[in-house]
Amino acid sequence: MAPAATRAVLLGLPQTDAVFIDSCRVIGKDFMMTTVEQPTSAWVPGPILGIETSCDETAASVLAIDGAVLSNMISSQHAVHQRFGGVVPELASRAHIESIEHVSAAALQQAGLVWTDLTGIAVTQGPGLAGALLVGVNYAKALAYALNIPLVGVSHLEGHIASAWLQDPAFPLPSVVLVVSGGHTHLYYKEPSGHCRLLGATRDDAAGEAFDKGAQLLGLEYPGGPAIDRLARQGNPEAIAFPRSYLKKGSLDFSFSGVKTALLYRLQAMPEHSRTARAADFAAGYQEAIVTVLVDKAFAAVRSSGAHALAVVGGVSANSRLRALLQQRAASEDLRLSLPPLAYCTDNAAMIAAAGSQALRAGLRAPMDFDANASLACSFGLSGLSGFSGLSGSSC
Ligand code: KG4
Ligand code: ZN
Repeated sequence: MAPAATRAVLLGLPQTDAVFIDSCRVIGKDFMMTTVEQPTSAWVPGPILGIETSCDETAASVLAIDGAVLSNMISSQHAVHQRFGGVVPELASRAHIESIEHVSAAALQQAGLVWTDLTGIAVTQGPGLAGALLVGVNYAKALAYALNIPLVGVSHLEGHIASAWLQDPAFPLPSVVLVVSGGHTHLYYKEPSGHCRLLGATRDDAAGEAFDKGAQLLGLEYPGGPAIDRLARQGNPEAIAFPRSYLKKGSLDFSFSGVKTALLYRLQAMPEHSRTARAADFAAGYQEAIVTVLVDKAFAAVRSSGAHALAVVGGVSANSRLRALLQQRAASEDLRLSLPPLAYCTDNAAMIAAAGSQALRAGLRAPMDFDANASLACSFGLSGLSGFSGLSGSSC
């Protein structure tokens, strides 16, 4: 079968030879397996499509040649997972399959473009849920093949880090970057070359995980972070004391298991009616213990590394108390701070497109037989973009 005909069918373009195509071959074995040759054309800079399906958001975004975000579509699965109190991997994969096509088409439409305007595709390769990642990766491979344009796989973390430069491409380097999400609490030193060096990471729960588990203990809805954030606004953060874990002096590692256990014990020690009456104070105190440590360690990292800029990214960077504390502290220490707008904090595809466009510019390409990698060690293998060192991997 001629690749041109395959592409024509996949794109829904008028075809002269499409009638000869065996649909099983197109959509099945030959197409989805590893036998497809990768596009060999050099990258022609232009609009690129980012695709993100690592966890419970199906997202697609188009970035213009100058990095401007032309569209940023997100289909959240919160309603699907809410009654289970967390993400159910099988349901996540199914929901991605149902949404990926219309989310991508909507991103293109909002950008005012047609498929053939795209010049590259970036997709999250990992870390994340295996089945969920597979949906995005295979969809991206199909599109790249059909359009005959280059494809790059992007580490989800690399995407979060890139989000700090989306609104402010001139944000300075070197910079300390704190990634705080459901799966990661990592502090990096990002050098002017783009190389990232790990300064510290959580030894147990990620900050987002601590929010989600704390919310569960408090009987709040999923996802827990935003629920605690909202409830805490009505509470007094000093009313109930929670431990703040700094580990040994000078350590830039984190630990959130102690504060979670403290919440459990304090709740168990109280009769149910008091727990309900004091839920806002619990939320405020618990949140304060987490965000205070994040802020203190991020600024300690800035001081010890000699950087003059701090970027805080990932879902937890949407937390209103964390943002307020970071802004106050940055102002008082005269430090440049990048806090992405809320739409770029939690999972989104604009950040994947941003990291992907850097990879494409650097000449990197994913072969068509590349695969999703649920536990992609943060070696940033596929795009290999920034050259990371000293990293430990963990999944979504
Ligand atoms: O980056 P993200 O969307 O997905 C991962 O890569 O994990 O982060 C999701 C995490 C969840 O744990 C969620 O509860 C937390 O970010 N989160 C928040 C807030 N919004 C989302 N945590 C605290 N306050 C928020 N406002
Ligand atoms: Zn994320």
